[in-house]
Amino acid sequence: MSKDKVQIFDTTLRDGEQVPGCKLDTEEKLVIAERLEDLGVDVIEAGFPISSPGDFNSVVEISKLIKNATVCGLSRAVEKDITVAADAIKGAVRPRIHTGIGTSDSHIKHKFNTTPDKIIERAVAAVKHAKSFVEDVEFYAEDAGRTDNEYLARVCEAVIKAGATVLNIPDTTGYCLPEEYGAKIKYLQENVTGIEKAILSCHCHNDLGLATANSIAGAMNGARQIECTINGIGERAGNTSLEEVVMVLRQHPYLNIDTNINSQLLYSTSQMVSQKMGMPVQPNKAIVGTNAFAHSSGIHQDGVIKRRDTYEIMDPKDVGVDQSSIILTARSGRAALAYRAKNVGYELTKVQLDAVYDNFLKYADRKKEIVDADIHEIVETSSINMASLA
Ligand code: KIV
Ligand code: ZN
Repeated sequence: MSKDKVQIFDTTLRDGEQVPGCKLDTEEKLVIAERLEDLGVDVIEAGFPISSPGDFNSVVEISKLIKNATVCGLSRAVEKDITVAADAIKGAVRPRIHTGIGTSDSHIKHKFNTTPDKIIERAVAAVKHAKSFVEDVEFYAEDAGRTDNEYLARVCEAVIKAGATVLNIPDTTGYCLPEEYGAKIKYLQENVTGIEKAILSCHCHNDLGLATANSIAGAMNGARQIECTINGIGERAGNTSLEEVVMVLRQHPYLNIDTNINSQLLYSTSQMVSQKMGMPVQPNKAIVGTNAFAHSSGIHQDGVIKRRDTYEIMDPKDVGVDQSSIILTARSGRAALAYRAKNVGYELTKVQLDAVYDNFLKYADRKKEIVDADIHEIVETSSINMASLA
């Protein structure tokens, strides 16, 4: 049975770039956009054109460069914003305008000081204005995570009638639980008249560390677009991490949902974005962290050396990492030491290994990690007959 496709909407260059200190110039954005296209993302959110002349120019240049992916420009539900976004993306092969407005009580009362009905009017006017420039219009209901489902369904119905082709349901504050977010998508799927004319999209923030789980719950309940960033970069605790959703779907084939992403480019893309944005990837980051395929405790190392999948659910090569690594620390066992010693040229007998291991522990208690150069010194200063080394 062929799998359902969930579109990957990458917002590294818009929501991701909002992180303080991560600002990119147009040249850097073009290099990343080209890489995102190679990676296989379906939509690139290139920027927020009205926000600055620099961002406008980046969206113009990305629109000219990208040949396969849809290029999207963000706007508020404000006529001028939408007109400027339309101007910025007009050179794209597949242009999309992303417009929207806050729909939660908090946004309606405190941000807009207006009424729910007036918000719907503004949403409809924005979509209609966007539609006068492009066929592909995505509408976001900001803070949908905290918006009452019945009202959200009314908003969705109205913007579909006005021509929206994609409905973005952002959990802007990262508040929802996966069950709750999944149920929200299901509710919209089942209660919005005309929903078959639009795609539901998940846009989850990571304030409680649930962005990936919420996006997957959304996809399991009918959403067919996930908005995400490389390395999960984004405001506050970040956005949904692209590499995580892609690999969750790939590692769970029974969900019958896949993406168009070439997963072997995930690690190098993560490194590229990290370097260009000056934003290090935490070592224990799922999929792309430097420790994601590194084993340092003796029990795990012994298992992985015997058979990799004892402690690894993914082949590192599938995400572009050459191989798993066996790290030597004071918690490592003989199997790991023998393995690493062999890699640098020492085939130790059991008796030799016992002696070298005692010496190794003394070194390892003094150092955080034992590297190849240390292994030579440890073997050579151990009380074993060097001439008998294989
Ligand atoms: O988090 C959010 O609500 C957003 C919208 C602007 C799409 O980023
Ligand atoms: Zn966001």
